[in-house]
Parts: sequence; structure tokens; C-alpha cells
Amino acid sequence: MHILARGIAPRFTVPALFLIFAVHYFTYMTNKPTRYTITSALPYANGPVHIGHLAGVYVPADIYARFLRSKGENVLFIGGSDEHGVPITIRAKKEGVTPQQIVDKYHVQIKQSFEELGISFDIYSRTSSKIHAETSSEYFKKLYEDGKFIEQTSEQYYDPKAEQFLADRYIIGTCPKCGNENAYGDQCEKCGSTLSPSELINPRSTLSGEKPVMKSTKHWFLPLDQYEPWLKQWILEDHKNWKTNVYGQCKSWLDQGLQPRAVTRDLDWGVPVPVAGAEGKVLYVWFDAPIGYISAAKDYFKNSAIKAIHKSNTWEDFWKKDDTKLVHFIGKDNIVFHCIIFPAMLKAEGSYILPDNVPANEFMNLEGDKISTSRNWAVWLHEYLEEFQGKQDVLRYALCANAPETKDNDFTWRDFQARNNNELVAIYGNFVNRALVLTHKYYEGVIPALGKLEASDEGVIMMLKEFPGKIAASIEQYRFREALGFMMDLARLGNKYLADTEPWKIYKENPERVKTILHIGLQIAANLAIVSEPFIPFTSAKLFTMLNLKANTWNNAGTIDLLKAGDQLGTAELLFDKIEDATIEAQVKKLEDTKQANLLANAEVKPLKENVSFDDFAKMDIRVATIIAAEKVAKTKKLLKLTLKTGIDERTVVSGIAEHFDPEKIIGQQVSLLANLAPREIKGIVSQGMILMAEDADGSLKFVQPDGVVNAGSMIG
Ligand code: 2FM
Ligand code: ZN
Repeated sequence: MHILARGIAPRFTVPALFLIFAVHYFTYMTNKPTRYTITSALPYANGPVHIGHLAGVYVPADIYARFLRSKGENVLFIGGSDEHGVPITIRAKKEGVTPQQIVDKYHVQIKQSFEELGISFDIYSRTSSKIHAETSSEYFKKLYEDGKFIEQTSEQYYDPKAEQFLADRYIIGTCPKCGNENAYGDQCEKCGSTLSPSELINPRSTLSGEKPVMKSTKHWFLPLDQYEPWLKQWILEDHKNWKTNVYGQCKSWLDQGLQPRAVTRDLDWGVPVPVAGAEGKVLYVWFDAPIGYISAAKDYFKNSAIKAIHKSNTWEDFWKKDDTKLVHFIGKDNIVFHCIIFPAMLKAEGSYILPDNVPANEFMNLEGDKISTSRNWAVWLHEYLEEFQGKQDVLRYALCANAPETKDNDFTWRDFQARNNNELVAIYGNFVNRALVLTHKYYEGVIPALGKLEASDEGVIMMLKEFPGKIAASIEQYRFREALGFMMDLARLGNKYLADTEPWKIYKENPERVKTILHIGLQIAANLAIVSEPFIPFTSAKLFTMLNLKANTWNNAGTIDLLKAGDQLGTAELLFDKIEDATIEAQVKKLEDTKQANLLANAEVKPLKENVSFDDFAKMDIRVATIIAAEKVAKTKKLLKLTLKTGIDERTVVSGIAEHFDPEKIIGQQVSLLANLAPREIKGIVSQGMILMAEDADGSLKFVQPDGVVNAGSMIG
């Protein structure tokens, strides 16, 4: 506007303007990828998937893949199970089964629960497959033959009885920092220190219980230090556009200086190292897992019919052509592997493309606490799907709306309920329902014609036009929360339009006007069906059916030409229903029970005291007493002054329980009283005896009471 006003525009002739446009268009088209390879971190197949995995990786990756497909792009969306590594062997040992049995069980469970949540992988593969063994083995061999590794021999712990080198997790001993006798070779779970096996005092093997010995072993290392200058240029200079959290973590690794990293391990579970003299050694899990993305693509294209879906491309086009955009979706704990180690591996191999972006998320906590598999502090996907049948989109919506994109975030059941009730039901569902139900009511479900437009209609149509572009721009920048907010704004726009024009009020006196309003309302709903598909695909599919909307894509959205006047709508049904308090309370209770169970499991039971003689015990006069009065002792936090009826007398006892009990609420309760404890003065009050309390694992106190009312003065013993 300013430029035109100052008269600069007339300097451009029409051919010059065309040239500028053509150059821009050419640049846009030449930079525009021909195809997309989207990977999502391969979850370890040693346990089910939880909401932390979903919010961090799979929901955003799926939104991205669905959006690009809707734009007509050629997309390969890869997932799969990470089936190697020490934790899987430990789990197998604990359960008395083979590692293969463990991964078979969880691979199937994880794959199925992803499917049910609508995560639209083109392939969900696995790293214990033959094709992966071949692919990762060949990859290693190529680097080996090209002289990309260095070989180093070092001393490592070996269990002579089990005849096996010991991975860090297989060694336990005393933590040098806190004295915990069961610290692992890589970490002490009591004080949180990171350790190396040689630091442990009195190390012992978890396989045989024996003391391990040091033995020399040869391994292959990727000399990351040699890639440091290149990585610095590639990340710190060429990828300044990466998310701040990702860029920051990479910078800190690079600033510290990179060291050669072992890519093999002494273990019997994994891909065997394919060179002579490497018997009993396998590829390190973090070497083989990212190659799993490549083997998954190969696995997928084994089926020749697949090529047709992907514009006759092959797996190699998706991994080796420069006009392919490679994007890794991961959680923050995987940043170094995807931004530094895997790119160095790809660079060393030489024939693969590098990631264009790695939009890692931070962590999702649960009700204020870190999600933890070992403490069972999680909302497990398979359980959610079981308990909230048909509500996949509610979870997808709540996780995206609250996604930990820039910092750790918290999932709470109350927020989940509010997202459903106040947003999905009250905005999206309400708008769609009004538009459809009114059309069924007034026109038997036939889409009415558009009549003369008023200013308010034109305003709404103009605003509608902006939405697909705005939502797309946010998704393209990996700002999924923002994109979801815009999608919901479109539903708000529809809601407001109906609320402002009030078709239900004017139907009688102005039926023609109502036709136009509902026509526009239905067109907004059709747009919503398209632009909400990446986020809430099940709802979108229902809405497509309800509107009888033909296969429209993102590129058609933004207009009011999606539906044709005279066409018949499908049946209207509610898209969302309210989630009641009781449902949420049951989930909160489930978590509270978990917390309680954890406390009890971890509670340290105090050691037994020395024996006492029966005579000593018999000296104690323990009897039931009833509290008849209770008040706080002035100027103290902990003390209550209790008046007790003991059957013999009424007496005063001062007890340190004020932080646990409300004095008014304990009157009438029966307690156990050590009645012949020598009186002593506390804060100027003579206390005659002591009441017995049980202290729970969480430090809370409970009275030791008879399980029914008895006479005050009844003896205990
Ligand atoms: O952190 C994890 O859960 C790993 N299993 C992720 C692997 S991602 C990729 F490299 F396979
Ligand atoms: Zn410790």
C-alpha cells in the first residue's frame, strides 16, 4: 500500500512484473521437493506406547504426513519397531523368555494401537527383520571397506562364568557417590549419577552374581571428530532455521567437541558384525536403528504394486534423490543421534540424502510428574483405546493442543476433559450440528441455493479464504499447536456466523435469506472437513459422509464451491459427546492408585529392633481410650492437646499429630494409649501417656484402633 502510494509501482512495466513473477515461481518450483520421506522414531519393542511418545513424535508426524498427502504430495511415512539393544535382553531374561518373544509381543501391540489411533504410516516395519539385517550389515560393510571406521581395543568387564562381556546394565555394584549397593554400570537410580562400570565399588555380574574380570576386546568406532568441521558448517551455519531446542542441543554437543563413537558391542542380540574376527559382536543399537528407516522403505517397496501409489518412484528415490525432503520426527532425547551421529553415518556412506529438518519435541509430563515406564506413571495408548472407544480424535486433539513444542508440558485429565467439552463439543461439534440439523429440518437435507450476498456473508467468505493457507504455513513450519488453533478458529468463524445471522429466528419471515446462510454454513463445514483431516481424521471422515462431500483435498479448500446446491446431505449425527466428571475422576483415581502402589513398593521397612523379654513387654499398660476433646497447642505447628477418657480417668495427652488431623474431626475416635508412660511436661502441659500411631510409606499417620467400638479402658495386649 505504501509503495503504491509513493508512486513506486508505476516504474514496473507489465512485462517486468511478469518476469519477476516468473522468477519467483521458478525459484519456488525448483526448491519445492518432488517427494517427502518422513520418519518417526522407532519405539523400542519392550513395552507399550504412551501419551509422551504420541505427543512428542507420532501425532505431529502424522499431521504432517496427512497434510502433505492432502496437498497431493508424494509422501513416504515410515515407522517401525526398534527391536535390538540391551534393555530388551534384560526384559527377556527377567520374564524367562527369548528377546525375540519380547519384541514379537510388543511389535504387534504397538503396531495395532498406532493403527487404531489413525497414525497413517505407509509402512510399520521392524528391525529384527531379514531385510533390516541385510541392509544394516551391508551398510556397515561399505563403511568398513571404505576405511571409514577406526578399530580400538580396550579393557571391558567380562563374566568368566557366563563367558560373556557385560553391557553396562549387566553390571551392578556400590555407587561411589551415594553408597547404593545396587547401582548399574551406567547409572545409579538412587542418586541419579551417571557412572561408568569401572567406577562401581564391588562390581558383580547380574548374569551369574560373580565378580567380573577385565578382558580386552576390539571394537569399531566412527570417528565423529573427523566430521566435526563439516557438521559445524552443515548445522550451525546452514540450518539456522532448525527449532531453537534442536539447534541449541546440537551447538552444545559441537562446542564440547566430538569423540569417536563405538558402533559395535559384545552382545548376542542384534545384527552380527559382518567382518572376520568379530564373532560374538553385534552392531550397536543406535547404529542399526536409524538404518531401520532405510530398510523400512525397502521393505515397503518389496510389494511392486506400491510403486504406482508413489508416482512410479522406488525406495532409492525416497532416500537418494536431492529433490526429496527428509524430515525426522523425534523426541528431545534422540536429538544427538538424528542430528549428529546418523548424518555422519549418511555422509560417510555417501549416497544418501541428509535430513532437511529434525523437528524434535520436548517431553510431555503427566499430572505434574515425569512419565515413567518403570513407575507405571503413564497413560498407555492401548488402555486409552480400550477405555475411550471411538474417542481417538479427542486424544489426538488434546495432545496436539498441548504439545511440548518449545518446552516440557503437562498432560492432565482435567485439561483433556476441558479440550473435549469446551472446544470439540462446544465449538466444532456445535457448529457442524447446527448447520446440518437446520438443513435437514428446513430442506429435508437438500443443500439450499446461494442467493444474494449481504456484507456479512462477503466478510465471512473472505475470511474463510485465508484459512487453508494460514494453517498450511504453520504446519510447514512444524508449528502444529498453532495450526490446530487456526483450524479451530475456522469452526469458531462458522459458529459466530450462525449465531450472528440466527437463521432459526428469521426462517418464518425470510426463508430465502436462510437458504443463503445455510448454504454458506455448509460450505464452511465442508472446508472444516478438509482442513481438520490431518488433526482429527476420524471426525473429518464422518463429516465428509454427513455432508456427502466428494473426495476434495487441501487444494480445493478456501472456497464456497465445495458443495453443490440441490445435492442431498447424509444423515446428521453428533461428532463429539461430553466427557463426564465421573469418567475423569476414574482416571485420576487410577493414577493415584499407581502413586500409592509405588510408594508402598519403594517404602523402606525399618530394621527389626532388638528382642525384648515378655516381662518387659508385660510392663506396658496399653489400653483403648476415647478422645473427648482436642485443641491445638498455642504457638506450635505439630502439637495437639487431647483429653482422653481412659475408663479409669480423664487425662491430658500432648501428641505431635496436629499436621495430620483436624482437632474437631477426631473427637469421639478411639485410640490406643500407652497409659503408664511416665508423665512429662511438653510446652508447659503435663502429658500423661502416649497414643500409638502407624506411619504409612508416604509419611501420613493413622490411629491404631480397635476395628469396632469397645469400652474405654479395654486392655490391649
Ligand atoms: O529412543 C528410542 O525409543 C529409540 N528406540 C529411538 C530410535 S529412533 C531410530 F533411530 F530408530
Ligand atoms: Zn548413587
